[in-house]
Amino acid sequence: MKSVILAAGIGKRFKSQIPKPLHTILGISMFGWVLKEALEVTDEAIVVINPDFKVEFENSLDRIKEVFKIEKEVHFAFQNEPTGTLTALVSAAPLLTGNDTVLVLCADTPLVTSELLAEFLKQSEDSPNAILAVRTENPTGYGRIIHNDNILLKIVEEADLTEEARSIKLVNSGIYKLNWKDVIENYADVRPANKQNEYYLTDLASLLKCHVVETDNEDCLIGVNNRYQLSLVEENLIDRIIQNLAMEGVRFVKPSTIYIEPLVNIEKDCTIGPNVILKGNTTISTGTVISNSEVENSTIGKSCTLTFSVVKNSTIASNTTVGPFAHIRDGAQIGNECRIGNFVEVKNSKLEDKVKAAHLSYLGDAEVGEDANIGAGTITCNFDGKQKHKTVIEKKAFIGSNSSLVAPVKIGANSMVAAGSVITKNVPRDSLAIARARQENKEDWVRRYKRRQKDEPK
Ligand code: UD1
Ligand code: CA
Repeated sequence: MKSVILAAGIGKRFKSQIPKPLHTILGISMFGWVLKEALEVTDEAIVVINPDFKVEFENSLDRIKEVFKIEKEVHFAFQNEPTGTLTALVSAAPLLTGNDTVLVLCADTPLVTSELLAEFLKQSEDSPNAILAVRTENPTGYGRIIHNDNILLKIVEEADLTEEARSIKLVNSGIYKLNWKDVIENYADVRPANKQNEYYLTDLASLLKCHVVETDNEDCLIGVNNRYQLSLVEENLIDRIIQNLAMEGVRFVKPSTIYIEPLVNIEKDCTIGPNVILKGNTTISTGTVISNSEVENSTIGKSCTLTFSVVKNSTIASNTTVGPFAHIRDGAQIGNECRIGNFVEVKNSKLEDKVKAAHLSYLGDAEVGEDANIGAGTITCNFDGKQKHKTVIEKKAFIGSNSSLVAPVKIGANSMVAAGSVITKNVPRDSLAIARARQENKEDWVRRYKRRQKDEPK
């Protein structure tokens, strides 16, 4: 069986420049969530799209395949004009034959699950054409289903609602199982007899006397028609991710404030506290505690602590403390048992084990050896206005507070830099470097100054 996902609509209610199915949920285009579930129960998929956005859909598909590890075949079909869900379905014709049975889904129902689809297919086993109907207390916005003994008679859309249909609590999920030969032989009989002047797939479904399969699983079928619904659906998907991880031994504090994308891997015995954002290809190893922080495309080792910090495209080994208020970015590699404290920024730098940079520092394009101590306010001056240069701080070096290390420069092992120095030359190992004006004390200067002022005529 093949699935056909209808994704060529404009999504007027989104008020957007790009089509609704390309809008992302947890970093993945909406149609990807449907595609993933559909491919769990079918052998290949056809996504019907607007040809004007072919490139965008192709790029999204690459990402979807990577994130959800999809190996089955996915093809695009093109609906040139968005004249309705029926025309959209028929646009898949070049990729189908009369022998095919298709599972049809809408790209805007991202909460659909493969379990629900499998159940629908099972219950409709004996019927060539079937539709999944949802029993709900809130039918607003969905097509109302009129049937006779589970044989579909008519679906009345919200826009075309009659008094009689208004109170119906059985609605169209937008999911169908159809025999392709029947679709091809009958679709031309459907007229756009509705307020929108569109060709409705629902009218074909009535013509084919679809078998109505009922479910009360409303959540799975929420159609995303505006951006408010988009945010609600996203929360729902985050909740599913959190539930799965919690079952695997991850502790979440204030889960309603947490954002986690599907590629994030969190090992057991981690604690993810309030206001944590975890994005992209991120791994958090066992025992690590994170709160009020954002981590993207990064690996955090075992038993680390991260508070009020941002980590992007970087790696942190084990037992390291980060924050509050640290910024680790773009190729930073931090070793074991390091301490990266308040207002410390680390960019494209390698810090070996046990490095301490506890306060107010910028380490950019630097190599810092084991056990080095970076005093408060140390700055690597890595940019000369044109090019970036490297700073090397060898092991056990001690950089005094408020020093500037003007790159390219090297501080040898075990050396000390006096506080307030501006270092422009390499410092050999085991040395003390002082690079600032020598202090001079002018004794009694203030008293004499004040006396002079008093004696001056007004
Ligand atoms: C549709 C159903 C409605 C059902 C609801 C379930 C019709 C006429 N109505 O309504 O009975 O309750 O879904 O969520 O089918 N699309 C195209 N080309 C088009 C128009 C739409 O590909 O020309 C795609 C859209 O991208 C979308 C899907 O079809 O993914 C559904 O379209 P939408 O406009 O959202 O239909 P609804 O009004 O929600
Ligand atoms: Ca819809």
